[in-house]
Amino acid sequence: GRGEITAVRGDLVHFTGSPFDSPVEECFVHQPDGVIVVQDGRIVRTGPAADVLPGLPDGTRVDHYPGCLVGPGFIDSHVHYAQTGMVAAYGDQLIDWLNNHTFPAEAAMADPGRATAMAREFLGELLRNGTTTAMTFATVHAHSVDALFAEASAVDMRIIAGKVLMDRNAPGHLCDDPERGYEESRDLLRAWHGRGRNMYAITPRFAPTSSPEQLRAAGDLWREHPDVHVHSHLAENTDEVAWVRQLFPDRAGYLDVYHHHGLTGRRALYAHGVHLGEEDFRLCHGTGTAISHCPTSNSFLGSGLFPLHEAKDRDRPVHVGLGTDVGAGTTFSILATMGEAYKVAQLRGRCLDPVRSLYLATLGNAVALDIDDRVGALRPGHEADLVVLDPRATPLLARRTERAASVTDVLFALSVLGDDRAVRRTYLAGRAVGPQDVGRGTPPG
Ligand code: GUN
Ligand code: ZN
Repeated sequence: GRGEITAVRGDLVHFTGSPFDSPVEECFVHQPDGVIVVQDGRIVRTGPAADVLPGLPDGTRVDHYPGCLVGPGFIDSHVHYAQTGMVAAYGDQLIDWLNNHTFPAEAAMADPGRATAMAREFLGELLRNGTTTAMTFATVHAHSVDALFAEASAVDMRIIAGKVLMDRNAPGHLCDDPERGYEESRDLLRAWHGRGRNMYAITPRFAPTSSPEQLRAAGDLWREHPDVHVHSHLAENTDEVAWVRQLFPDRAGYLDVYHHHGLTGRRALYAHGVHLGEEDFRLCHGTGTAISHCPTSNSFLGSGLFPLHEAKDRDRPVHVGLGTDVGAGTTFSILATMGEAYKVAQLRGRCLDPVRSLYLATLGNAVALDIDDRVGALRPGHEADLVVLDPRATPLLARRTERAASVTDVLFALSVLGDDRAVRRTYLAGRAVGPQDVGRGTPPG
């Protein structure tokens, strides 16, 4: 109830800064046997159990997870909720994959009942995997946004979403037009943005499916509502990059198409960015534009290897987060996505340590999305969105972690071997919530 104090006890892991900017000892917190104190959905205090427990009111409920890691809930900065059911589509790279698999799946969302059912499945998958915030594409249908925000509100989950804008190079029944796309986005934004935990993202699919007029309208809408997000795709696949050059011959490159239309800046986030150059990274750095690294998707579609270390170059670091990009991505698990990011770095001859990948999955994503004032760390005042990870969740994990030398090694094992089985519990605003709580129509008690 209101004002009630509860607590979660376990081995706390979180960040106070970025391990890409400062030494790990200065920004990574590992508190063995720590306690998180929660009131009215927010973290009020964290500290060692020995210090915190004696000060709690008599009878305070303490959820104790001995031997488990407790951290801020995972954030997925790029995913497509309407593609939940079409994951693992065989055989094609990006453009054929869109035409043969994705567009037909999204067309089925014309049925509002289907959109609600898909939203429930999607939110259940997020919770099963310890993901407490996602920025997701909906579809071109305005009701696809209503369905998702309504279901997310019922479990008090922070979702950033928007209606897809596309007015060309896609089937007619999946296209809007610049004026209609603008008006529907504006109306959705007015209806949902800032209502509960919902946040709106202006969502042009990608440059090939929006006319210059539509991109201009999207830029106008953002100028009129600068507190919302912009969410799109960028430089994922080499054929796509060549196509954008043909479609926008006057622009210096792919990112310049978005920049020219007023779609770069803080709270603009682009998925992939696999095929970007030094000038692009400079522009991202200078404008605050963020990139979501989606390694399982980039491997699945054969898109390429994201140059993470180049993006984070200390001379002009770019905001980077991690995304699953389901249905091109092959898992909702952010742990598995961290594991795949490690492999992609290996293929580029670089090493991604597990502390940095955990940062990307939590506070790094929150910073990339400009929501680090409210989620992404175990900071007093932050919303109590939490994930509890069990390093002994499977026989192989138990075998691998029983003599782990450090919490870093446990995190690495979890990222390589873990998935939803390693997620013991997920908390939204201080309440334990799971897939079984989605779609019941009332907030869990
Ligand atoms: N580019 C444009 N649309 C999409 C999409 O739905 N998924 C991915 N991975 N890339 C895209
Ligand atoms: Zn995507």
